[in-house]
Amino acid sequence: MLEVEHLTGGWGPTTIVEDLSLRLAAGEVVSIIGRNGVGKTTTLELISGRARRVSGTIRLDGKPLEALPVFERCRAGLGLVPQSREIFPNLTVTENLSAAARRGDWTMDRVMDLFPSLRRRARNLGRQLSGGELQMLAIGRALVGNPKVLLMDEPTEGLAPIIVEQLMDSLKMLASSKSLAIVLVEQIVEVALELADRCVIMDRGQIVHTASPDELRGNQALLSDLMGLHANVS
Ligand SMILES: Nc1ncnc2c1ncn2[C@@H]1O[C@H](COP(=O)(O)OP(=O)(O)OP(=O)(O)O)[C@@H](O)[C@H]1O
Ligand SMILES: [Mg+2]
Repeated sequence: MLEVEHLTGGWGPTTIVEDLSLRLAAGEVVSIIGRNGVGKTTTLELISGRARRVSGTIRLDGKPLEALPVFERCRAGLGLVPQSREIFPNLTVTENLSAAARRGDWTMDRVMDLFPSLRRRARNLGRQLSGGELQMLAIGRALVGNPKVLLMDEPTEGLAPIIVEQLMDSLKMLASSKSLAIVLVEQIVEVALELADRCVIMDRGQIVHTASPDELRGNQALLSDLMGLHANVS
């Protein structure tokens, strides 16, 4: 479905990501984990077309994307949930969704079934939403674009644990539906492992390890070594 080969690039003159390759089958969920600043966001922004590519190729369903502008990558089937969320503050929930909607299985109604709080807040403005609701809206907005591959950058960032749990229920449903492939960047290791079919660990702009969630659960030493955190997962 998505084939990234030897991708190198960054921002302005600075190269952040070097020679990164990643493949996803249809319906597959891959989590990218790694310390702050290792280039996780830059990787997603290179795939979506917002960061500057130096070399490498990106294919979606066999179609080369790397030379296309952002909106055409979107049209080809890439959806991005950016780390900065980027919800229109002065549009309502419904308006934010309809601005991004494209024909397909994911309708506004279906998004609101997945995230019931969005239905309750349908007429509220973007700026009136809580952090959790904003994140749900950012995911919903990507879904109504009916992507084949969804790039999600830290959907749980800044959310209280109870809200993370609610969001997880919806994300688990989404992941198990196998209706789209997902690249998930996630700092909370438990969340990353629970949702993923496969995990890649990044360090300094490169993928340094690929493993199944079970392998990583069984290798706390590797996790704390590469993540530099107390990745105490069970
Ligand atoms: N929009 C941008 N413009 C310029 N430089 C950027 C931009 N986004 C990230 N960078 C730089 O790229 C480098 C890698 O950052 P990146 O955001 O990709 O890391 P990350 O792994 O997503 O980190 P975090 O876990 O903190 O989100 C950093 O030096 C950062 O300052
Ligand atoms: Mg980031």
